Amino acid sequence: MNFCQITFSPTGGTKKAADALMQSCCAHRREIDLCESGADFSQFRFSREDLCVVAVPSYGGRVPGPAVRRLSRMRGNGAMAVLVCVYGNRAYQDTLLELKDTLTAAGFHCIAAVAAVAQHSIVPQFAAGRPDARDMSQLREFGEKIFTAAQAGGRRGLSLPGTRPYREYAGTPFKPRGGGECTRCGMCAKSCPVRAIPMEDPSGVDESACISCMRCIGVCPSHAREVSPAALEAAAQKMKKACSQRKENELFL
Ligand SMILES: Cc1cc2nc3c(=O)[nH]c(=O)nc-3n(C[C@H](O)[C@H](O)[C@H](O)COP(=O)(O)O)c2cc1C
Repeated sequence: MNFCQITFSPTGGTKKAADALMQSCCAHRREIDLCESGADFSQFRFSREDLCVVAVPSYGGRVPGPAVRRLSRMRGNGAMAVLVCVYGNRAYQDTLLELKDTLTAAGFHCIAAVAAVAQHSIVPQFAAGRPDARDMSQLREFGEKIFTAAQAGGRRGLSLPGTRPYREYAGTPFKPRGGGECTRCGMCAKSCPVRAIPMEDPSGVDESACISCMRCIGVCPSHAREVSPAALEAAAQKMKKACSQRKENELFL
């Protein structure tokens, strides 16, 4: 069996969870980064010999739009897929179902799924420090169970939470911009998964293209990019009830 990890992970939480899941079973694997805005994803064609771990964050209870479009261009040709949805301790709603539908339509055989919690990338006080040591050990255990099932061919008819039509998600009002400390180095523009930051003026943002993934804030060497602290605080207050109680990782097999 050949292993492949396919991730959309703008700020690293999703990748960390996928790495833990694959750690005990697949030291040698190919990695495909769905955040690469310039890649031709139609070149990725798999076969029944492949097992792909496909990991995405939940945005508004859905799969991020660019991840859906990029995955849809791949061809599974019967490859087994393990679905991973990573969320910031609020809820993941239709994310796994949408991921399963997307991958099934692309020709993958979905054999298992995991919902895992990672630090909220917009409001980092929620699920702070997750995945933590307890999560990592649980995800490794999930990985072992999944790969045992995969060796037996994986069963058909994976049932996942979520409803169709999927819930509406219209994005968030958080569109980071560069402040006075912006040196116009362009690091943010180069790493933006949707090319929403103009190279010629990286302190700005194309608000219609920005998906609020917060990657630009993390990569800026001058810490110049931010969203309005007052708006963030207001969002944190609103989300407090839904996000504060620890949620546990789940395995669907
Ligand atoms: C635009 C956006 C929307 C999000 N929506 C949700 C959500 O609906 N539920 C939730 O629990 N977490 C939500 N999150 C938190 C992310 O799912 C979580 O932090 C994830 O780990 C981010 O993945 P990454 O670190 O790989 O970028 C959202 C984050 C962003 C940036």
